[in-house]
Amino acid sequence: MPTLIERIHELKTRRNAVILAHYYQPGIIQDLADFVGDSLELSQRAKASNADVIVFCGVSFMAESAKILCPDKLVLNPNPSAGCPMADMVTPEDVRLLRSRYPEAAVVTYINSSAAVKAESDICCTSANAATIVRSLPHREIIFIPDQNLGQYVAGSSDKIFHYFDGYCPIHHRYTAEQVRRARSRHPGVPLLVHPESPPLVAEMADFVGSTSRIIAYAAQSEDRAFIIGTESGILHPLRKACTEKTFYRLSSKAICRDMKMIGLRDVLSSLEQDQYAVHLDASVQSRAAEALERMLAVC
Ligand code: 13P
Ligand code: SF4
Repeated sequence: MPTLIERIHELKTRRNAVILAHYYQPGIIQDLADFVGDSLELSQRAKASNADVIVFCGVSFMAESAKILCPDKLVLNPNPSAGCPMADMVTPEDVRLLRSRYPEAAVVTYINSSAAVKAESDICCTSANAATIVRSLPHREIIFIPDQNLGQYVAGSSDKIFHYFDGYCPIHHRYTAEQVRRARSRHPGVPLLVHPESPPLVAEMADFVGSTSRIIAYAAQSEDRAFIIGTESGILHPLRKACTEKTFYRLSSKAICRDMKMIGLRDVLSSLEQDQYAVHLDASVQSRAAEALERMLAVC
């Protein structure tokens, strides 16, 4: 009797499918995937893939982004109820209102957003390329949507005028300066690596701020032997795989994104067996959102 993993591999080969997974996914899903990455790398991989079918293990905006970039492929989201609370905070109407208020500004939209919001935007960005995207624009004014923390982090190294939306990631937004002080006193001299979705005060106190991939690369290349990690707990799996001799402490044990834990092996199997659940988008939304995402990929 083949195991679940064997059945998934067999179906994957038969269907010429590729499994993409985010670093916050359960370890077993990361180990199953053909490629694990941050949001930027996953978009790039989806676009460059020769597969007929993409099984996207992440949250819904990620599978949607793959579909937007690969409209002719079958993109499967094994569990569409896995959303992103931050992406749900902003609507297309919010974007139109901000545009009418700041008509000279470019709308830069974090990839953690719905397809309909991307469709209202000039360009997308991820946590890995947000500063480069903002720099690439001729505009003096930026409307940054929806993450106020990432927006403020980028604004810190920019001379442009930023208008923020008040969205935030409920997981990262909970980090506090007090948690940083406590972690530093428990682990003196240990560097703190955080995601830019963290509050500005926490990012200022950190030794390194970067996307999930960059945090992993930083820890792997650093001569330090231990790190305090300020991002979602799923990242500990790839960190421990990449740095077997190093120690990782969590800034908070509560930094768990429930949406990122909603896909299991059985979901992936059903996905490949029964095309569960194919991502479909409104044609006009899809093509307008594609412009914003393609503009981002053309920059980096
Ligand atoms: P990355 O693009 O850095 O992987 O972040 C995605 C995300 O959802 C962070 O909460
Ligand atoms: Fe969304 Fe935050 Fe979960 Fe990332 S960690 S998917 S931003 S809720």
